[in-house]
Parts: sequence; C-alpha cells; structure tokens
Amino acid sequence: MIKVGGIFAAVGIAAMLASLVSPALADPDNNQLIIEGELIVTDVAAPDSSPLDHIYSGWRFRSPETQSLQMDDFENPGFVAVDAAAETWETADGSEGKSCASCHEDVSSLAGLRAELPKWDEATNKPATMENLINRCRTDRMGAEAWGWEQKEMVNMTALISLQSRGMPVNIQTDGPMAEWMEKGKDLYYTRVGQLNMSCSNCHEDNYGNQIRSDHLSQGQINGFPVYRLKWAGLGSIHRRFKGCMENIRATPFKRGSDEFIALEAYVASRGAGLAVETPSVRN
Ligand code: HEC
Ligand code: HEC
Repeated sequence: MIKVGGIFAAVGIAAMLASLVSPALADPDNNQLIIEGELIVTDVAAPDSSPLDHIYSGWRFRSPETQSLQMDDFENPGFVAVDAAAETWETADGSEGKSCASCHEDVSSLAGLRAELPKWDEATNKPATMENLINRCRTDRMGAEAWGWEQKEMVNMTALISLQSRGMPVNIQTDGPMAEWMEKGKDLYYTRVGQLNMSCSNCHEDNYGNQIRSDHLSQGQINGFPVYRLKWAGLGSIHRRFKGCMENIRATPFKRGSDEFIALEAYVASRGAGLAVETPSVRN
C-alpha cells in the first residue's frame, strides 16, 4: 500500500501517486523460472544493506504470456540479438585486423563478469560498466571505433556476454573505492525529481506489487539486462530503462553512460545481490 507521512512531504504528491497506483494485483506471483531444466532464482532474502525483506526479479511481476517467452530460448525474442553478436564476436574489425575471438577465444571465457558489474576500474579510477569494457577493447586493442551505448552491436554484445553468466548470483563490490559510488547512487535513488516529484523508491520500493496504470510494478531490478522489451520490439540497456523511468515522471534524464547513471546502476545492482542473472530477459 501507499506509505504517506514523511515520504510524500510535498503537498499533493500522495494524492497524485494514489491516483496513479492501485493495489489490484498485490504481490509478485509464485511462478518458477526454469530454462532448459535449470532453475533461475527469481527471489531471495534481501541483502543486509537492503531496506526490503525480500527481493524479486522483475520476471515475477509479468503476465504468464510474457513469462513464458523467457522460459524457452527458442521463443525468447532476445536470442536473435545473441545470435547476431555471436557472429560479430568472430568478425575482425579495426586497424589491427582482430576479432573479439582473436584474443578471448570462446565467449564463455567471460562467464561471471555480468554478475559483478559495474566494478572498480583502476585504469579510469571509476567503476566500469560492460559497455565501457567492450569499448576499451575496440578502441585500444582493435583500433576500431567505439560503439554507441545503445547501438545495436553494443546492446547485442552485452546480451551475448551477459548470457554467459545466466543463473549466477549478482554479487557486486560495494566497499573500498566503490563505497563512494554506492552512496552517490543511493542519493539519486531516493531523490524526488521531475514534474511528478517522485523518486525511484516511491515506485519500486514503496509500491512494488501494485498496479500503475496498466503495469504491474516490480522492484526495478537489473538482473535481466539487457532486456528484450515487447514495447521496444528489441533489446535495450539498463541506462535506456533508467532514462525512460525518469521521462515518465517528467524529469530531465541523465545521459546514458553518465557518471550519474553508472552510480545508479551500481547501487541498483547492489539492491539485487543474490538474484540470478537472467539475461536476456523478456518484459512488456
Ligand atoms: C587484442 C586482444 C583483444 C581483443 C581483440 C579484444 N579484447 Fe577484450 N580484453 C583484452 C584484454 C587484454 C583484456 C583485459 C584483461 C582481461 O580482463 O582479460 C580484455 C578485457 C575485456 C573485457 C573485460 C573482462 C573482465 O573480466 O574485466 C570484456 C567484456 C572484453 N574484453 C570484451 C571484448 C569484446 C566484446 C571484444 C570484441 C569487440 C574484445 N574484447 C576484443 C584483449 C582483447
Ligand atoms: C512512477 C513510477 C516509477 C518511477 C518513479 C520509476 N519507475 Fe522504474 N519502472 C516503472 C514501471 C511502471 C516499470 C515497468 C514495470 C516494472 O518492471 O516495474 C519500471 C521498470 C523499471 C526497471 C525494469 C525492471 C525489469 O525487471 O525489467 C528498472 C530497472 C527501473 N524501472 C528502474 C528505475 C529507476 C532506477 C528509477 C529512478 C531513476 C525508476 N525506475 C523510477 C515505474 C517507475
């Protein structure tokens, strides 16, 4: 239910949210995500640092039709992108005449990486996302042009590499040099912005399980990214989703790849610690 008092201090916000949110379907469902015989963990006890008791993958809030698309790799529309990236992996590009495979051999050598991103990067003295790491190889090691954040080749490649970690628990570093970024991400998560004057937490912490317009609100976890969204008719990055959520509350979104979104990505990833990577997930 909607928590008033303290949280929606500004006049009218509680009323505005009440008009948006209705508790039609109260909770996540109890369905189990099994892909090719393997159980993918979609709910776990929350990590100690979490304000929630229990955390759930966004999959648990989707309709049975959308859920089923993710239960079979042959039906999952995200696999078109994975297949395309597998070809790119083998294709030489740039002045050095190298492909990803020239150095990394099989992409399965990158298993585990998705679960720990973003991670601290000595070279840049800040956390690196998967997009950052891929582009470093392209520019510094292949003599190729950097891919755009949302460019098809980039999103497809992040899907292929993330798939290698499917089923592994999200486990990102939050201490040491990452601590400052976690704080920054947390601030952004709880700061109300935009004409609707709302924060991420107003929807994804206070109201998950409730209906907002025709959508069933999840905890806004990122363990399934990049996701195939039926609405996008394609795959999209974490930062694209953040941007869309900010636009929905009529805030000026940060840019994809910005320090703000990297901090937010790191903090949101930490809120999902223990959930299984389930890329490429399917959402409406
Ligand atoms: C010339 C050799 C070379 C090529 C070509 C290359 N890489 Fe790399 N890549 C490396 C090295 C070296 C590292 C850093 C050491 C490591 O982590 O393996 C690295 C690191 C990475 C990482 C981070 C791994 C981690 O555990 O932190 C990713 C992701 C990655 N490469 C993806 C790619 C992709 C995708 C391509 C093709 C578009 C590519 N690389 C092409 C040599 C290469
Ligand atoms: C007005 C309510 C609202 C606010 C505020 C909001 N979102 Fe969302 N968000 C949604 C809805 C609706 C969806 C789609 C249904 C779902 O998965 O919750 C969504 C989806 C997401 C997803 C995709 C989850 C998945 O499993 O695919 C992420 C990640 C996310 N939001 C993050 C954020 C972040 C970070 C913020 C703050 C910058 C934010 N949201 C603010 C309503 C909101």
